[in-house]
Amino acid sequence: MNFILTDSYEQMSETAAEFLTEELNRKPSAVFALPTGSTPIGTYRALARLNKEGKVDFSQGNFFNVDEYVGLSRESEQGYYHFLYENLYRHVNVDLEKTHAPDGTAENPEQAAEQYEQMIDGLGGLDAAFLGIGRNGHIGFNEPADSLHYATYCVTLTQSTIEANARFFRNEGEVPKQALTIGMGTILKAKKIILVADGDDKEEAIHRLWEDTSLRTDFPVSFLRLHPDVTIITTIK
Ligand code: PGA
Repeated sequence: MNFILTDSYEQMSETAAEFLTEELNRKPSAVFALPTGSTPIGTYRALARLNKEGKVDFSQGNFFNVDEYVGLSRESEQGYYHFLYENLYRHVNVDLEKTHAPDGTAENPEQAAEQYEQMIDGLGGLDAAFLGIGRNGHIGFNEPADSLHYATYCVTLTQSTIEANARFFRNEGEVPKQALTIGMGTILKAKKIILVADGDDKEEAIHRLWEDTSLRTDFPVSFLRLHPDVTIITTIK
């Protein structure tokens, strides 16, 4: 695992944007998983600027949301597809037909999960998984648990995640209790993994990832140690 320590949120964001730009320039039709949350917003801002400057072209790339809440539609303001639309897609020359999120409104979420996995597989799997990290060590919505899931699945969110995400809703009670997330296998099959982490609430998780080499299902991010090409870009010392 390669750690890149940056001095500021802006520097972290620029560095992550450079990695993603390099990937897209190397393979214009690359398949990406993209996260939501506060941390990647700066990266998306930097990518929008690079796109405007003509340094990266999104038109042939394929972009998959890492996760989506069950019950929220593509149009829902708190939904994760909407997040990526607002923070990235509407600012770049992406082909919206090539942007995807698990169907949070599907009557059968398990089936929607399976279809999502098949769609990613059908394009040859992920070239790059861009990730954030939860303060509990989740990646995507792969929450700490007795066992982890291989492929995209429907997860029941932990109280820690519901509390952390309540800031995006009117109150904690409005946070959906379930989500669809790409699985640990979907992530670990990606050719390249880039993770960004910033802020005091991530310090414990990043220190643990740095110091503790055990693989634990109650700390899902630890499984990234199994992957040969992981870059963690962080402001956390
Ligand atoms: P955050 O979320 O960037 O808003 O802290 C990250 C995550 O929970 O994966």
